Order: sequence, then C-alpha cells, then structure tokens
Amino acid sequence: MISFYRSMIAGVLLLACSTSPGSGVTPAKDAGPVQVEASVPRAQQPAHWDNEIRSKELLDENPDPAIVEVSLEAKLETVAVPGGPSLTLWTFNGQVPGPTIRVRKGNELRVKVKNSLPEPTTIHWHGVRVPNRMDGTEMVQKPIEPGATFVYDYVLKDEGTYWYHPHVKSSPQVGFGLYGALIVEPELPDGLPEDLPIVLSDLSVDKDEKLAPGNESGGFGDFFGREGKYVLVNGRVSAKVTMRSGLGQRWRFVNAARARYFSLAFPGLEVHRIGGDGGRMEKSIKIQNTLLVPGERAEFFVVATGAAGSVTNVENKSYDRFHAGASPGTSTPLFQVSVSADAAVSKEVPPAKLVTIPRIDVSSLKERPFEFSQVPLNAPTGFGINGKQMKDLEPFVAQRNTDELWTVTNASGMDHPFHLHGFFFQVVKFNGVAPPVLEWKDTINLIPKDTMQIAVQFDNRPGMWMFHCHILDHADAGMMAMLNVE
Ligand code: C2O
Ligand code: CU
Ligand code: CU
Repeated sequence: MISFYRSMIAGVLLLACSTSPGSGVTPAKDAGPVQVEASVPRAQQPAHWDNEIRSKELLDENPDPAIVEVSLEAKLETVAVPGGPSLTLWTFNGQVPGPTIRVRKGNELRVKVKNSLPEPTTIHWHGVRVPNRMDGTEMVQKPIEPGATFVYDYVLKDEGTYWYHPHVKSSPQVGFGLYGALIVEPELPDGLPEDLPIVLSDLSVDKDEKLAPGNESGGFGDFFGREGKYVLVNGRVSAKVTMRSGLGQRWRFVNAARARYFSLAFPGLEVHRIGGDGGRMEKSIKIQNTLLVPGERAEFFVVATGAAGSVTNVENKSYDRFHAGASPGTSTPLFQVSVSADAAVSKEVPPAKLVTIPRIDVSSLKERPFEFSQVPLNAPTGFGINGKQMKDLEPFVAQRNTDELWTVTNASGMDHPFHLHGFFFQVVKFNGVAPPVLEWKDTINLIPKDTMQIAVQFDNRPGMWMFHCHILDHADAGMMAMLNVE
C-alpha cells in the first residue's frame, strides 16, 4: 500500500471528472451522477445513520455567536469500549476520544482545561495556526499541574479537520486515550453533506486486559513505535455507519494513534478525497485506498453504491513501516457500512472545484535541507534530525512573514511522518514530481529514501515552534527539533 502522495504522483488515482450539473434529489435512474451544490436541497440521511459511530460534541457555553467556549477535564475514567474491554482510560470529559469541538472559521475558541490527571499535561492544537503561546508545547507554557486549570484562547483562521492532544509525555498520554477532533467549518456553507468526524486510534492493554503502562516493551517499543491490540474507530472496536444508496456523506478522518498507520480501503463505496490536513483541497480526487499516518487528516466524499440492505466494510490493510518484505498485507474490517432500505437516489459526486488555494511562489526562497535519521552514536533506539537528537540540536531560526523551501529526506530505514507545528506547507515536489492538486499540509509520510520539497509559509506569529516525527515514540526518543520564528 502506498501513501497518498506517492500514489498521487504515480498516477494510480483516478482523477475527478465529475461535471454533470445536478438538480433535485430524485431524478430518473439514468440521469448520471449529480454534483452537490449549496443551493440544491438534498435527501436526508437514513434515520439514526450515525448512532453507532459518532462521538459526542461539546456544547458552546457562550451566548456570543462569535465565541465558542467549552470545558475539558482531563481525568481517569472507567470506559466500556463498545466491542472491546472495559478499563480505566485517560479521558477528556470521561470519553475516548475526547468530545469533538466544533467551531466556525473566524470564531474565537476558549477551552477551559482542568487537569485531574495524576501528572502534568498540556493540550496541543494539531494543525491549527494558533498564537505561539497557545501551541501547548513545553517551549511555550508550563505544563498544567494536577488540580490546576489553563485556558486556551485563540481565533480560528482556517477551516478544516484538526485535533487536540497533550504535548508532554505524548506517546503515553495519547496512548492512554487523550485526543479528540476539532472541526472548523467554513464561514459560508460549502454545500457538502453534514460531516462525520472519524477518529482512528488504538489501545494497548496488558495480559489482564488493563491499560498498558505506556512504556511497554522498553527500547523496542521506542524503536518500533507502539501499536495497541485494540483498533478504535471513534473509541469503538465495533463501529457502524448507515448510508442511503447514492447519497453522499462527508467523512473527516483523523489518525490519532501514537504509531499505527491506517491503510484504508473502501470496497463497495465510491470515494472522493476532498480535503487534507488544512481544509478542502483545490479539486476532488477519486480514490480507492489511502494511507493515513499518525497526526494526518483526510476528508472524503463517500457514496455507497451497493443495493439497499447490503453491507460492506471500510477495511484497514496491514502496513509494513519497516519495508522488511513482510508477507502481503492482510485486510481487517475497520467499521461496518450498511446500506439502508431507503430507495436509492441518483449517485452524488462532490463539486469538481472545491476551493482556490494560492500557490506559493518558490522561485527565490531560502532553502533548507532536513534529514530524518537514526542516530547510531547514541542508544540503538536513537532517532534524530540532521544527525542529532532533540537534546543536542540548536533551534533552527526563521524570519516571520517569509516563505521557505525545505527539502526533507528520510535517510533512515523505516517510515516517519514529518509534522510541522503552527504553519502549513504546500508540497512542491515529492520525489521530484509536482503533485497534481494543491492542498495545505502539516503532516506527511516519508518512506525510506523519500525526499520532498515543501514550501512553508511563516506568517506573523513569532515564537518557538517545533517539527518532529509523529510516531510519538520516535518524537519522544529525539526525532524532534525546535524552530524559532523571529
Ligand atoms: Cu500532533 Cu507536536 O504534534
Ligand atoms: Cu502539531
Ligand atoms: Cu519516526
């Protein structure tokens, strides 16, 4: 299975060719696909279509329509995982994943966080262009002590699918259950169907089916990246969504696992990728499968093509992060999709053109090379950037309000998802080839020897940021660097 960028470059994707304009929701059978439009009313989703998959959302406590104010309490709670074990997890508000936070672009978000955990924590807003002091790293704030509170407060500048997670002892704290989705809707309705956030993660347990200690398997765990026994879809081992044949749904995926890659396949469904890390992409692309690495997001427009009453599964294919030539991937059902008994509607397709993204001009940018590598001089589990672990690296320095051209290469023998805090980038070339569709990214996978050129846009938010591998065990083991934007 190949990653989205590798497959997009290799041209194995089917490019979107959805052009027929639609009107109404029940045209004649042979009318062809119907392109969704904001102005055209659409059929209803089946009754209770999302009951067995959707996570709870937080209610806005502030009457001002421009301000969304919510409360999160990080605390231990015994959770009965649907289809899995019952055990004590680290939760936000007693649930895993933590509640979905939903805001609109331009809103101010205030999150009052209470730490009722036995150790300090923070919240990082992955992908969001927050002011530096709101980034949730130890570079910019003192961790929130047990019993203490902290208010994160910032304005959302971009639509898209984001997520939140602690940034101290990230691998254990995320592994214990601390993560949730942050959905930023555009200012104006985009005409796409109501969305379904789908947070993918996993859960490590010991032989008594209790939560594993977080440092299980010691150095091996650090090196290989810890993958848990239970794979969770919005906190469920057994999740299920119901679709009406022909009617589109918008799925917003987040990979919140600390190390597990998800290689998604969609038999029986027609799937268009419509967005990535930082909101909608320029154009939709029809896909059959996709790789979603830790930290990464992807938005899909999904249509069931099966007959009323049929059942299919979104599948997860095993993925070999070490390229060890392991036997071909097995496919396991990730969640069930059942097609309701409602009469089919004419097959919907997303708009061909989604948004306009200005392309960063890369003709005269400051260039910088970065290399993700194993650091053999240290422990065998040492990982670093440009040959050094985080503790031995000086911060890199960039200037605010400039763009830079970074070349990021994976010089190690295994995959690493590169993630940059605070700023989006555009992929200029991936292994020498320009991607056919523009989108904003903050997390992207590199397999051994992959090299990408990315254009990074530093706006006017100075401060100490960071970039790292999002296999959190690798980040904790040193594959992390600071970036001082002056
Ligand atoms: Cu999800 Cu430092 O990141
Ligand atoms: Cu981040
Ligand atoms: Cu890594």
